[in-house]
Parts: sequence; C-alpha cells; structure tokens
Amino acid sequence: MINKLILRINLFVFFLFFFITIDAAEGGACKDYGECDKFKYTLNDTESLQRGASTFINYCYGCHSLKYSRWGRVAKDLKIPEEIFFENLVFDDSIKSGDLMVGAMPSESAEWFGVMPPDLTLVSRYKGDDWIYSYLRAYYEDSSKQYGVNNLVYPGTAMPNVLLSLQGNQKLVCKNVPLIASNGGEQRDDFGNTVFEEKCGFLEVEEGTGTLSKEEFDKLIYDLTNFLVYVGEPIKATRERIGWYVIFYFLIFTALSILLYREFHKDYNT
Ligand code: HEC
Repeated sequence: MINKLILRINLFVFFLFFFITIDAAEGGACKDYGECDKFKYTLNDTESLQRGASTFINYCYGCHSLKYSRWGRVAKDLKIPEEIFFENLVFDDSIKSGDLMVGAMPSESAEWFGVMPPDLTLVSRYKGDDWIYSYLRAYYEDSSKQYGVNNLVYPGTAMPNVLLSLQGNQKLVCKNVPLIASNGGEQRDDFGNTVFEEKCGFLEVEEGTGTLSKEEFDKLIYDLTNFLVYVGEPIKATRERIGWYVIFYFLIFTALSILLYREFHKDYNT
C-alpha cells in the first residue's frame, strides 16, 4: 500500500519535471509577432555554420561577444583551416587561437544603447532558437523610436536593425484578407463573392530597398541562428549522435536479457 503510494508520488514528480523541462525548452514567447517561427537546426551542415560564423563576425561581433568560446575551437569545429580562418575572420593580429572571443566593444560604450549588448554565447539556450530566428526577421520601420525601427518579437529593443541594408526597409502594413466563416471556410456574400476585411500588422519589405531577396535573407538568418545554436553547445551534434548509439545498445541489451531470461526460466518449468 505504502509502496504503491510512493510509486505514484514518484511518477507524478517525474511527469511534472518532464513537462516543466519541455516548457522551458520552448523559449520565450514572441510577443506581438504571435507564435515564433519554428527553427530546426542542422548542426551537421558545416557550410551553414561557416556562413553563420562569417555573418556573426562581420555584423554582430562589433557589439556582442561570445566570451565562452575560443577562436581556435570554432575554426576546428567548423572545419576551417586556421590560416584561412584567421586571415579572413579575425581582424586583430594580436589574437591567438586559444583566446576567448571576448568582443570588440569597449565597455564604456554601453551608454550608446542605454544597455550593454549582452554576450551571445548562451543566447540560444535561454531565449530559444525559434525566438532568435523570429527576432532577427521582425524589425520594422517606426519613426517614434531612437533608431527609426522597432521589433515585433522584442518591442522597444535597444538594438538597432544592423541588417537593414541586406533585408531592406520592412514595414507594418494592412491587407485585405478573406473573412473566415464559423465553419472554417471563406465567408461569401449573397452573390457568392468572397468577403474581405482589413487586417493590420503584417510585415512587408519595401521592394528594391535591400540587397537580398526574402528567401536569401531568411537563409542568412537561418545560418546565423544555426551558428548561435552551435556556439551555445559545441558538443551538441556529437551528443545527439552518441544518444543514438546508447539507444541502440539498450535495444541489443534488452534483447539479450530477454533471451537470458527465457533460458533461466526453462529450469523452473522442469
Ligand atoms: C550596434 C550594436 C549591436 C550590433 C551590431 C548587434 N547588436 Fe544585438 N543587441 C544590441 C543591444 C544593445 C542589445 C540589447 C537589447 C535590449 O535588451 O533592449 C542586443 C540584443 C540582442 C539579442 C537579444 C539578447 C537578449 O538576451 O535579450 C540578440 C539575440 C542579438 N542582439 C543578436 C544580434 C545579432 C545576431 C547581431 C548580428 C546580426 C547583432 N545582435 C548585432 C546591440 C547590437
């Protein structure tokens, strides 16, 4: 009786933690953006990580450090030969392979933004990859703000839209969208025409203002987010690969135990 009770309490606590963990892994909500866009990382895609690293160092490293990573480790994991890596991505000759990526921004510059740009080594862990992927694509023109931009995912963010020249000028627009009837289909009037209503809050890039197309920009942010997921846990790809081996081992081991059990059980029946 008592045993059963303890078992039940154990199960309850187990599931409680299970769901809390799942919830935490979801990352922060995307505020005015609605649901965050889903992001599926591909840490075996070394080329994507290399492009992401290059974008990060060129566009983000000026403000954000990755102070728990070392230059040499990133070069090695991303399979970039060290001479090429240092020649193309490291702009300070005094930096050595074993140095931490402590950032290029003097600490007194925090006043520029009112808030110090945070270190991003672990940002994919505490904000979630979905959040980052959505955040970097959710800037829009807003003349009431200091830098002329605001962000749907992080309203009032102190970070300027540093990728504006690539993405182009994104604006919040209103659109006529079909009105949805209670049965889930498009609502029609008596003559069978679709009924439209005006809805606002859609993001749209002003044509010809950016150097990249929407697909190219999304891909750039994909690679950048993929790189931040890698930096957050460099061993992740290896860990996940080993996980499969462990499960494989368990399966084999279970099969062997069943066979052994059967073998022993024969003795009882005779
Ligand atoms: C001009 C300086 C500057 C540059 C360049 C810059 N950022 Fe930021 N970033 C900031 C500041 C300041 C904040 C803090 C915003 C706040 O909390 O309001 C921030 C916040 C962030 C956050 C949210 C972190 C958190 O903990 O809330 C992410 C993610 C981020 N930046 C990613 C990037 C990426 C990726 C790039 C390169 C494409 C980049 N940033 C380039 C200044 C910068």
